[in-house]
Amino acid sequence: MINIAIDGPAGAGKSTIARKIAAELGYVYVDTGAMFRAIGLYMVRLGVELSDSGAIADKVSGADVDIVYKDGTQVVMLNGDDVNGLIRTEEISDAASKVAVVPEVRKKMLTLQRDIANKHDVIMDGRDIGSAVLPDADLKIYLTASVDVRAERRYKENIEKGMEADLEAIKADIRERDERDMNRSEAPLVKVPDAAEIDTSDMTIDDVVKTIGDMIRKL
Ligand code: DC
Repeated sequence: MINIAIDGPAGAGKSTIARKIAAELGYVYVDTGAMFRAIGLYMVRLGVELSDSGAIADKVSGADVDIVYKDGTQVVMLNGDDVNGLIRTEEISDAASKVAVVPEVRKKMLTLQRDIANKHDVIMDGRDIGSAVLPDADLKIYLTASVDVRAERRYKENIEKGMEADLEAIKADIRERDERDMNRSEAPLVKVPDAAEIDTSDMTIDDVVKTIGDMIRKL
């Protein structure tokens, strides 16, 4: 199986780009952030205090997360229900980043992610794919962009969806998530030495898709 790992901070464009490349090349796109979001949703629903790692570790065995594909789209199932429509809010973004620091949560997600990568050619995006989940990936990409550019992209997305958006609040949120994702002790976001770094600040989506697509075609 061919395994491509794409890591990077929130808003670098990982999911948009990985989804396009997967469609072009006929690979399965695996959005691992969505799995952490499902666990975040589960804990929020239970009313678990998100700074309480012990409580999260205790409860995680009750969250059965699975990934299925409907018409080529990844659907995240939480205890048998499609939760795709519920996991993209700011509240759940924040909850996902908080539950992701808990080792028991990461262990469970890692097993699920490796199972998928063993069965399919995948483009998997996340924070620790090249470093922890697929250390032997055929290609590792570290996708990044400046905080300002990432915040502006999110701002535009929210406006396009008809949601309220405050650029300064988005910037603060991105900084806070970066800080937590990069500095946690368990599988933090890092650029591994064998990853190719691509800064997307001044690139279009199509530019990035072409750059990575060319790298994969050369494998
Ligand atoms: O990629 P995303 O924004 O949907 O991810 C949501 C959160 O999940 C992110 O802030 C950190 C966590 N995450 C992680 O710890 N490891 C991954 N492989 C993917 C996401």
